[in-house]
Amino acid sequence: MQQNDARSFRIAVIPGDGIGREVVPAALQVLEPIGKRFSIRFDFHMYDWGSEYYFRHGLMMPANALNLLRATDAILLGAIGDPGIQDNITLNGLLLPIRRAFDQFVNVRPAILYPGVQSPVVGVKPGDVDMVVVRENTEGEYAQAGGFVHHHHPNEVAIQTSVFTRHGVERVIRFAFELAVKRNGKKRMTSITKSNAQGFGMVLWDRVFEEVKSEYPQIETESLLVDAATVHLVRRPQSFDVLVASNLFGDILSDLSAVLTGSIGLAPSANLDPLRRFPSMFEPVHGSAPDIAGKGVANPLATLLSTAMMLEHLGLNDAAAVLDAAVRKLLAEGRVRTADLGGSSSTREVTDAIIETVSR
Ligand code: NAD
Ligand code: IPM
Ligand code: MN
Repeated sequence: MQQNDARSFRIAVIPGDGIGREVVPAALQVLEPIGKRFSIRFDFHMYDWGSEYYFRHGLMMPANALNLLRATDAILLGAIGDPGIQDNITLNGLLLPIRRAFDQFVNVRPAILYPGVQSPVVGVKPGDVDMVVVRENTEGEYAQAGGFVHHHHPNEVAIQTSVFTRHGVERVIRFAFELAVKRNGKKRMTSITKSNAQGFGMVLWDRVFEEVKSEYPQIETESLLVDAATVHLVRRPQSFDVLVASNLFGDILSDLSAVLTGSIGLAPSANLDPLRRFPSMFEPVHGSAPDIAGKGVANPLATLLSTAMMLEHLGLNDAAAVLDAAVRKLLAEGRVRTADLGGSSSTREVTDAIIETVSR
């Protein structure tokens, strides 16, 4: 996929809806000085897909969208979702098909409480939250297996089936263990299911976890039920390092892990095809935030940290480290921050402060 010049990359950019259209431009502005400083050429392919595109064309993205994306090195996405369209149409018309088509089978969602940031949980200090949620990203509860019977009639029935394959479960659990080995963390792994009530898919998950964990004796493991996991994440966040969970549980738990770090406006994510057959996609954990969209006050840092994950994925570790350090510095200083972190700065002011730091 990569072009001949090792420092030249084709990036598909989909700002999407709501604050996606504010935070993605911020990321592009920050990539400009980074490109200059490290002699990297970013070839941005801009796609105006999303809800406005849907209002004009009746589709969230064109029929050849996946082919266009396939030819790129990475995808940078803002967020999708508009109060005027049922969420199932928007998300199943763009975000979820991309994750599935490119077999981005892990969604990596780090959650770090940075120095200078206050956690909403009393007594939790920087250093206490340093974990990564590894979310299964192509099947499970999101398999879209099911249908309606007697659609729109008074006796209608909706069937929504979860799909857990041994292959799908094993590959995400193995990825999580490899991450726990590589990561400079507590060498702990927590698998989260609900196998007391969900007696098939989640039981398979638990069984595969037991099998794979025996290959990683250096990693301490625990298995939690998802309800108890929400309690433990709040009461003892210090004890978590890598968490691995199904698609739906990983979704929910990563909003919880995000808020432990001060704001969902700080939470990045990477939808990875670890086998590198297809482009991976980088996006903030948060959505299109219609309540604040258009006001210029969205926190761009989740998208900038996602951009740093993209740079790392592309092998640009020097550039990734500089962007990551700029975010940490800004948070530690505390002068420039958006309202979600208790400040009054605009998206623009935060972006400018980051640009100043990365340009040096
Ligand atoms: P949301 O993440 O958009 O917003 C939740 C809350 O967090 C809101 O109060 C919002 O203002 C705040 N928030 C989120 N990001 C912020 C930021 N960067 N800076 C400051 N505050 C921020 O979740 P929601 O309200 O449940 O969803 C809104 C829409 O986004 C829905 O249509 C939903 O389906 C969609 N959504 C899309 C994605 C995605 O595209 N990846 C992810 C989540 C939700
Ligand atoms: C996320 C989002 C999506 C998901 C929605 C918008 C479909 O919440 O990326 O966390 O559940 O995967
Ligand atoms: Mn989510």
